[in-house]
Amino acid sequence: MIGILNKSIVLALPCVPQGPGRKRDVKMKKKSSCWSAAEATTVRCFRIEDYDAVIALWRCAEGVGLNESDTRRAIAAYLRRNPRFSFVAEQDGRIIGAVLCGHDGRRGYLHHLAVAERHRKRGIGRQLVAVCLAKLRQAGIQKCNLFIFASNAAGMKFWARTGWKLRTELRVMQIRLDNSHRSRGDCPC
Ligand SMILES: CC(C)(COP(=O)(O)OP(=O)(O)OC[C@H]1O[C@@H](n2cnc3c(N)ncnc32)[C@H](O)[C@@H]1OP(=O)(O)O)[C@@H](O)C(=O)NCCC(=O)NCCS
Repeated sequence: MIGILNKSIVLALPCVPQGPGRKRDVKMKKKSSCWSAAEATTVRCFRIEDYDAVIALWRCAEGVGLNESDTRRAIAAYLRRNPRFSFVAEQDGRIIGAVLCGHDGRRGYLHHLAVAERHRKRGIGRQLVAVCLAKLRQAGIQKCNLFIFASNAAGMKFWARTGWKLRTELRVMQIRLDNSHRSRGDCPC
């Protein structure tokens, strides 16, 4: 079930265990068979103030490659250029999911979708993508693309499961415009 609260989306998630290694939450679950209200997940717009938490999340997410386009300054510029298209998922004030989204007037693009490992498989990734796609639709964009490492088998399963098609007839080509052959990271785009 999804509700709107102060322009954020609150997800009432199904009653599922949170996984091993979280003794406090396991105790909480014993008291109640369902998530408490405090454990509701909120999806809201990505603000530059979220940068430190989001970059920490991305650093831990296999399948997300970071480079010079992910500095605070670069992300701030991206968010300014695509206002209110990117989202974070929050639980108890902690960021547990994030995605960048934007468009160039023709196609939409998603980058760096990630959900913290212990919160996966509860619909948060799907919901983050859904709010981005709704925004793109609202802006009149008809198709959305994303880049994924060919080695990211788990990511491929997620995208296929949520309706995305692999364009096997296409390849990505790229040229550097910054006179630099240095890259501070690895990113599929
Ligand atoms: C990919 C990722 C964002 C998915 O987030 P999530 O919150 O676990 O995804 P959801 O719970 O919304 O899953 C949606 C559907 O995909 C399926 N799915 C998710 N991860 C899957 C996996 N690893 N293998 C198979 N299916 C998977 C879920 O079972 C669910 O299917 P259902 O609706 O039939 O139950 C998360 O695994 C992640 O952060 N991965 C690392 C970063 C990454 O690779 N990002 C993609 C970059 S292109």
